[in-house]
Amino acid sequence: MSLKKINNIFVKLDIRLALIFSLIFIVSSLLLSTITFVTLFTAIQKSDHEAIRQRTLEYWATFQHEGVHGLLSQFQEESIVGTTATYFIRFADIENNTLYINLPPEWESFDYSPLLRSRAPRSVEFIILRSTGERFNLEVASISFDPGFILQVGKSTENRYILRLVYFRIFSIVFVVLVGFSFLSGFLASSRFLRPMRMLNETVTTIIRTGNMDARIAESGRASELEQFVKSFNLMLDRIQHLIAGMKNTVDNVAHDLKTPITRFRGVAELALQGDGDVETLREALSEGLVQSENIIRMLNTILDIATAETGLLSVSYHEMDISKILREVAELYSFIAEEKQISLETDIPERLTAVGDSAKISQALGNLIDNAIKFSPKDTRIHLQAGFEEESIVIKVTDQGPGIPEADIPYIWDRLYRSGNAKGTQGFGLGLSFVKAIVEAHGGSVHVESVPGKETVFSVILPGRRM
Ligand SMILES: Nc1ncnc2c1ncn2[C@@H]1O[C@H](COP(=O)(O)OP(=O)(O)OP(=O)(O)O)[C@@H](O)[C@H]1O
Ligand SMILES: [Mg+2]
Repeated sequence: MSLKKINNIFVKLDIRLALIFSLIFIVSSLLLSTITFVTLFTAIQKSDHEAIRQRTLEYWATFQHEGVHGLLSQFQEESIVGTTATYFIRFADIENNTLYINLPPEWESFDYSPLLRSRAPRSVEFIILRSTGERFNLEVASISFDPGFILQVGKSTENRYILRLVYFRIFSIVFVVLVGFSFLSGFLASSRFLRPMRMLNETVTTIIRTGNMDARIAESGRASELEQFVKSFNLMLDRIQHLIAGMKNTVDNVAHDLKTPITRFRGVAELALQGDGDVETLREALSEGLVQSENIIRMLNTILDIATAETGLLSVSYHEMDISKILREVAELYSFIAEEKQISLETDIPERLTAVGDSAKISQALGNLIDNAIKFSPKDTRIHLQAGFEEESIVIKVTDQGPGIPEADIPYIWDRLYRSGNAKGTQGFGLGLSFVKAIVEAHGGSVHVESVPGKETVFSVILPGRRM
């Protein structure tokens, strides 16, 4: 897939996420405004009804104390003062003849004839009258006073109608602005959120297209989970690059190391065939061929051994092992090679350290550590092989005064086929340490290294074991 196509997918993803944000916003703001509106509207309606009820009760009290005349003169007073300007008031006698009516002029569109016909109940009851021209109603409370007088008090719902109108007008303006804002901010947020993904894709595509493993995602330096992901991804690329470099190195080494015995073998065979067929010469050529082919087989076996140890398929035979004895034997075996290189191999091995496992494999693994120490150290230096018992475990340390291992290489030296830059000019496949690690871990132990380049390098092996 081309970069352009991938970018298009991300742009579409940005828009999709922004649309989802906006949709969530629209639904929640509609819900919120509906709840707000209903609550507000109901509260105002309740307070309007309460005001009508209150006024009705006041008139009832006047009627009780001062009779029809008292009530009529209160109506007169109120209409002069203007306190009843927004109220519909009608007072009728037993025959339903209107004794008093207050009808605000703007309410003439109401057909209030049903009120003239209706009989009033004993307790306050609301009747709703629709207007013919307007969009609001008239809410009228009616009640009958003994011995049959009728009082009707009403108020229009115009204030609620206006509230609804203003509310919807303001809400629709704010709503349109906010939806636009939420889409825009959603788009910006999601494109910012997806930026590392986009860069990740660009990096991967570049690597696939060019085969160049140097491409990395730019790190912003901010502390976030996405940034952590970017860092881990870059780290993974570093590791892969290191491994590929290591493997390439080793394949070169293997080819080089195999080439020498095979070329020698061919040279000897050619010489023998060119000769006069003397049995002794042929015999010598064959025996040289045997030695060289054994070298090749040994090399290939090491590679296979590592492969099985690394994949966990290696079968370990478990027996009680005398670690002290194994260490002394290994030291003895390597003392000749050390001597040849004028390196002194010192030991500090206590008696009776025992563990359970495969003594041949453990011996081979420890041999690899001493082999490395000798191989990488210059002459006239010292190697110290030391063993001890700490916290239920046997701790074996091999210290050398060689060039050491650069800090950046430390995490990789245990990898199969990895050889550090300091291994240039020495023989090997980069398999020794991975064999050590695989064997020690198969015995439930662990391996560690500490190196101060130019000073000393300490390889430690920790094995579960006992001191007898
Ligand atoms: N004692 C040491 N001093 C310095 N560098 C070391 C030491 N031991 C290991 N290394 C580094 O770690 C690398 C891996 O070691 P390892 O034993 O796996 O491979 P090798 O010795 O190069 O090859 P092989 O063990 O297969 O013969 C070495 O190539 C070397 O760069
Ligand atoms: Mg080695």
